[in-house]
Amino acid sequence: MRIVVTGGLGFIGSHTVVELYNQGFEVVIIDNLSNSSIDVLEGIEKITGEKPVFVQLDLRDKTSVAGFFKQYTDVAGVIHFAASKAVGESVENPLLYYENNIGALVYLLQELQQKDQSCFIFSSSCTVYGQAEKMPITESASVQPAMSPYGNTKRIGEEIIRDVAKVSGIKAVLLRYFNPIGAHATAEIGELPVGVPQNLVPFITQTAIGLRNELSVYGDDYPTADGTCVRDYIHVVDLAKAHVVAMKRLLENKNLEKVETFNVGTGTGSSVLEVIQAFEKVSGKPLPYKFVGRREGDIVEAYANTDRANAVLGWKAEATLEEALGSAWKWEQKIRNKS
Ligand code: WQD
Repeated sequence: MRIVVTGGLGFIGSHTVVELYNQGFEVVIIDNLSNSSIDVLEGIEKITGEKPVFVQLDLRDKTSVAGFFKQYTDVAGVIHFAASKAVGESVENPLLYYENNIGALVYLLQELQQKDQSCFIFSSSCTVYGQAEKMPITESASVQPAMSPYGNTKRIGEEIIRDVAKVSGIKAVLLRYFNPIGAHATAEIGELPVGVPQNLVPFITQTAIGLRNELSVYGDDYPTADGTCVRDYIHVVDLAKAHVVAMKRLLENKNLEKVETFNVGTGTGSSVLEVIQAFEKVSGKPLPYKFVGRREGDIVEAYANTDRANAVLGWKAEATLEEALGSAWKWEQKIRNKS
């Protein structure tokens, strides 16, 4: 069974390609290398012993997308990661995000709706909930106008998929990620943030390795136990496995609706300070940090109710926060040749 993984050289995409091979699938990776490295292919091969077919292609190029599906006619399903994902950048440059995250999705779906049946897994985000009223967050929590164009592209993307599924052979699973962190246990693949990391964990590991002087904690006056924001940090390998479980569900016609939505998190919230403490325990190093003002657009708290993912999808996160942080630290040391 051949699965297409768009954005398959990216952070979550590459870990999902590994898990697809572990489950006996063949993979074709589509990536435009705008936020990933061709070297990731080597990492995947080292782990799996398999070298995926790689097609460098920009999904915003409608003709190229059509050409791809004329060439690859035996595609059983598509897992769609390829998208721009920097919240701050999306505020500065909204049209880049609407063109890349919505335009490319439309071109992809135009090809898939030509088929009698196609299985589609969409990379969505808990950001569609905005600041949810009630914790833990269930899939029936209201979807809010997002705090950023990035978040809007996920919300609108979900609606586009629902509309197309109604009138085509497309069936889909929308996976609403919480906060993906960590790296593969082999440290052959991991997160490769470009420039100064926006996300917490890569900034922590770069601080610990000496690339950054200290971590700025964005706000300690939130209405939480220790005053810092709470998130649901999920190991990227657990997240990757959820994609394979979701794809098999569709391929085996086990889906109960044409479009199903699942929160993919651990179900546990951790504050920024708790992440710092867990990292210091795992690395054995004190982490230099200081409190600064709140970051624009940050929500106070978000962690998943995982009942549906556990009971309906049949998937559950296994790694602890410390295991995830340990894998992130091992990866950081590896890429800085310090392990
Ligand atoms: C986590 C917490 C920060 C950096 C975003 C996107 C989401 C997904 C994951 C793409 C917050 C605090 C962070 C720092 C800090 N991205 N922080 N100092 O904002 O929850 O989610 O990334 O899919 O869609 O919205 O993740 O890691 O940026 O921040 O104090 O240097 O860490 O304030 O409370 P976030 P994050």
